[in-house]
Amino acid sequence: MADEQSGVCDIDQGRRRFLVRTTALVGAAGAVGATVPFVASWQPSAKARAAAAPVKVNIAKIEPGQQMVARWRGQPVFICRRTPQVLDNLAHDIDHLADPESRDSDQPTYVDAALRAIRPEVLVVVGICTHLGCSPTFRPEVAPADLGPDWQGGYFCPCHGSHYDLAGRVYKAQPAPLNLAVPPHFYESADVLVLGIDGESA
Ligand code: FES
Repeated sequence: MADEQSGVCDIDQGRRRFLVRTTALVGAAGAVGATVPFVASWQPSAKARAAAAPVKVNIAKIEPGQQMVARWRGQPVFICRRTPQVLDNLAHDIDHLADPESRDSDQPTYVDAALRAIRPEVLVVVGICTHLGCSPTFRPEVAPADLGPDWQGGYFCPCHGSHYDLAGRVYKAQPAPLNLAVPPHFYESADVLVLGIDGESA
C-alpha cells in the first residue's frame, strides 16, 4: 500500500508540476500578448510624427515689407521680410514694450535678443497670440486710421486687441503677457528656411 500510495503521490506531484509549468507558460504568453499592443499604443502614429517633423520653407519670393504664413505643428508661422526702415523703428520704439529683449518670452538663444531673428531682415514667429491663442493679423502699414498715428507696423490681435511690433514684441498694458514665440529654426541655404529644429541639431 505504501508503495502504491507513494506511486499515486508521485503521479499527483508530477501532474501538479506539469500543470504549474503549463499555467506559468500560458500566463507569460498572455502577458506578452497583452503587452505588445499596449506598448505599441505608446508609439506616436505616423501622422503625429509627420506633424512634428521639421518643415522646409522657400522664402525667396517674400518681398521686403511682406510676409508669408507657413504651417508647423498645426500652427501658423509668420515669416516677414523686414525693410531697413522697419529695423530702424524696432531699435527706437522700445519704451512702450512689455519685454523688449524677450527675457521672459519664448525664443531660442541663438537669435538676436531684440530683433528676435537670425537674419535681421527675416522675422520668424509663431502666429499665435500669447493671451488666449487667436491668430494676430499682419498690419505692416504706418499710422492706419483704425490703429492710430503711433502705429509703426506690427501685428494686431482681433480677439481682445493686443498689439505687437514687427519683431513680435507685445506692447505694455495689453491682454497678451508675452511676445510671440520664436520657433526653433535655421537656414539650409540663402532661400530655404527650416522650421522646427535648430542648426546644431540638424
Ligand atoms: S487672444 Fe489675442 S488678445 Fe486675446
